Amino acid sequence: MTNTPPPSELHRRLRQATKLPHHFLDHHPVLLPLIRSDLSIVQYGDALAALHDIYAQAEAWVLEFLAQNSGLFDYDSRRKLPALEADLGALRRSPVENHIIFAASPTIGSLIGILYTLEGSTLGGQFIARNLNELPHAALPMRFFSGYGELTWQRWQDFLQFADAVCPIDEYERATAAAVSLFGTLKTHLDWASWPNQIGPAN
Ligand code: HEM
Repeated sequence: MTNTPPPSELHRRLRQATKLPHHFLDHHPVLLPLIRSDLSIVQYGDALAALHDIYAQAEAWVLEFLAQNSGLFDYDSRRKLPALEADLGALRRSPVENHIIFAASPTIGSLIGILYTLEGSTLGGQFIARNLNELPHAALPMRFFSGYGELTWQRWQDFLQFADAVCPIDEYERATAAAVSLFGTLKTHLDWASWPNQIGPAN
């Protein structure tokens, strides 16, 4: 993570707007165990099961938008859902079912806000992966949190450059609104998932 350029105005605004929403996520009872040394396999499965639906909705939104605006951005090589589903399958866990709809206006600003959230989560993923690798119990399936591995920082920088190149200033507001909305939708879904009986190992 050397040679980090100073954040652009767009990046600065996205980071500022999502600072508190990010705090709510990385302190959420469903996700907090991921960075603890006493993480159980059940807690690990709970977190993946709870993350699934919002990633599914956000990626579907991105792919639909890019299908209408072809050539804009290659998201196919960045999809995270297949890895998440592979990890859930290896744990024999099912996703927490859908109960909230994520929506955003189909604009370039929304695309950037949603991609910011999805791509930025790979940074936290690296942090989490380091903890998972140090756990005493048998190796966990961790394709999702491994993400782009050593390429994570470079791919993050590539995304930020893309965002600055394609997002006009008058779309910055929409970008921050979409990012805040996606963080909020995920938190609402995690809150719901943590109610009794929403998550738990498959029988
Ligand atoms: C336990 C859960 C999480 C932890 C521990 C965590 C941790 C982190 C850390 C350490 C960074 C900074 C990485 C760096 O600068 O090297 C980061 C950045 C980020 N995370 Fe998370 N994260 C978590 C969950 C999430 C989730 C669920 C999302 C969204 C779906 C998310 C979105 C982001 C974004 C957008 C950034 C980039 C911030 C920036 O602009 O610099 N994180 N996270």
